[in-house]
Amino acid sequence: MTASLLSVEQMDRAAIERVLDRSESFAEVSGREIKKVPALRGRTVVNLFYEASTRTRSSFELAAIRLSADVVNIHQTGSSIEKGESLRDTVQTLSAYDPSAIVIRSPQAGAAALAARFTDAAVVNAGDGKHAHPTQALLDVFTLRRRLGSLDGVNVWIVGDVRHSRVARSDVTAFTRMGAKVTLAGPPTLLPREIETLGATVTPRLDGIAEADAIYVLRMQNERMHESFVPSLREYARYYQINADRVRPGQLVMHPGPVNRGVEISAEVIDSKQSLIGEQVRAGVAVRMAVLYELLVGTPPLATDGEEVSR
Ligand code: CP
Repeated sequence: MTASLLSVEQMDRAAIERVLDRSESFAEVSGREIKKVPALRGRTVVNLFYEASTRTRSSFELAAIRLSADVVNIHQTGSSIEKGESLRDTVQTLSAYDPSAIVIRSPQAGAAALAARFTDAAVVNAGDGKHAHPTQALLDVFTLRRRLGSLDGVNVWIVGDVRHSRVARSDVTAFTRMGAKVTLAGPPTLLPREIETLGATVTPRLDGIAEADAIYVLRMQNERMHESFVPSLREYARYYQINADRVRPGQLVMHPGPVNRGVEISAEVIDSKQSLIGEQVRAGVAVRMAVLYELLVGTPPLATDGEEVSR
């Protein structure tokens, strides 16, 4: 059975640290003139994207190429998904090429777990609905650990549209497993009650945000909002936008992208020296190389012990 990465919940601290340490070596490879290693030569990686993506799709493709794998990219537009081919039939069809890994993004929660039932390939969840985005969480932890050395005792505030955010769910788990203290802040309508079970402090107010070592800003996910959760984006920005008045010197600012400039975060903060957004994007390639490597050729195989992984 090939291990899959469906959720960061599957990973204990040792497994996360193993991926982060491997990412460091692949970050070094990415800094070379020839940014390629032969680790996955002869292997095939399929990127199956049912939802729009710039960062995740391009970095998974680059990661597989830099590991010397053969890469096939399938997007909803222009594929037989448009003719109504089901997820099961699509995964089984692509599995006929004997891929080592299928990377999948879908607007449906649970799509990656479903895909894993119909293939012998390792499945990597590249974001499924509001459920999980494990490689985003790993690259976020990697970026912050690189900057701070360790996350033990670090105070992270995650601010904004928690309700619709798979990143928030995965990040709370990853940051807390690495020893950070996480606070979730946003309008009460965007803070679902069950989020407290993940082990974060939850608050509708930004009064204490000066305590944060890092502020992680979430995108307002208008495409996932089927009713109005805030009176207007202008009102939201007035009370919750992360701007120069709300960021103190020394704090670091993160965002998974894409940003809504002037809504959840101001342009000056995005472009400031305190912003780690560019570093997050860069880390995406090294971290996704590490995930593919550890799942496919790591010894012993990466422990992904959650229920979701078994087939
Ligand atoms: N952060 C993130 O998942 O970005 P993309 O949607 O561009 O992949």
